[in-house]
Amino acid sequence: MEPSLRWIAEKNVIEMIDQTKLPGTLTYLEISDYRSAANSIKNMNIRGAPAIGVTAALGMALAAIEFQHLEVGKFKVEMENAARIISKSRPTAVNLTWAVKRIQNLIENNSTSSPDLTKLIIAEGQKMWQEDIDTNRAMGKHGATLLIDGDTVLTHCNAGSLATVQYGTALAPIRWAIEEEGKKIQVIADETRPRLQGARLTAWELHQDKIPIKVEADNNAGLMMRKGKIDKVIVGADRIVNGVVFNKIGTFMVAMAAKYHNVPMYVVAPKSTLSLNETEKDVIIEQRNAQYEVAEIMGKIKEPIVPEGVECINYAFDATPFELITKIITQDGVFSPEELIQRYK
Ligand code: MRU
Repeated sequence: MEPSLRWIAEKNVIEMIDQTKLPGTLTYLEISDYRSAANSIKNMNIRGAPAIGVTAALGMALAAIEFQHLEVGKFKVEMENAARIISKSRPTAVNLTWAVKRIQNLIENNSTSSPDLTKLIIAEGQKMWQEDIDTNRAMGKHGATLLIDGDTVLTHCNAGSLATVQYGTALAPIRWAIEEEGKKIQVIADETRPRLQGARLTAWELHQDKIPIKVEADNNAGLMMRKGKIDKVIVGADRIVNGVVFNKIGTFMVAMAAKYHNVPMYVVAPKSTLSLNETEKDVIIEQRNAQYEVAEIMGKIKEPIVPEGVECINYAFDATPFELITKIITQDGVFSPEELIQRYK
């Protein structure tokens, strides 16, 4: 899979795959200002915690380019404003604010001119882009130790190449096991209502890469486990706090079914997704447009599937308690939730 986004230095733009158009059409967006970068995150042209983190950093680079002609005091005021707007684009994935803060720290720690700060910020954004790929490959290598030849792995949402710069988080161990170790792995993707990231995106990218993929409606997961057809569950995360993993809505139900059936439940997430000084109550779970996403299936059907006047509920993420999680994989290795706390808190 090609990268989901990249910085085009000759044009000073971010080029990204427009994920709202997949799987029907592979089209690209060119983002040339930071407000558009924030909007691309908000509208989910790009999505997935690590991918929106890198977009946020490169969005800060676009802001720097826009304001580099200003004297440094004014430049910093404008950069603060850009940081606020970009950080507000989605509330749950902590990679977004992590990335913006990393650029803000860079500005704070370098007393130089606006054009020189701009060069540093662009370079940092590009560094974060490369780091994301390297981190994902490291997680893939660690996570692949948990997979054996012949495994069928259930995943929820899309935590693949499209959700990162490249290679993925949850899909990284699967890629590594297949591509580097020659193991046979079958992937099953929950369709992941309401935005269908599993059906539209996970299936698209794995099919492109010739990795065996089947899609099931979300509510098949329990029966598939009961029938012994799922060996492992692997998901990504948007924020891991003390005691709880936040990930795509539906992850909690999959984790409960996995616990009941003794199916290992693995979470793959880079350190930029950890926020271990927080607890569940500190996190805002995003609620998105319910009419559009739930009733109209994102405009994909002619008639809404919910009677007019009936309210829909649409949380985008849920919280899975640590006791339902077997292991968490970061770029440093494989940890039980308790070990994760000991190592990183
Ligand atoms: O709403 P989305 O599509 O941004 O949600 C994405 C997820 O929940 C992913 O599982 C998570 O970001 C991990 S991605 C590597």
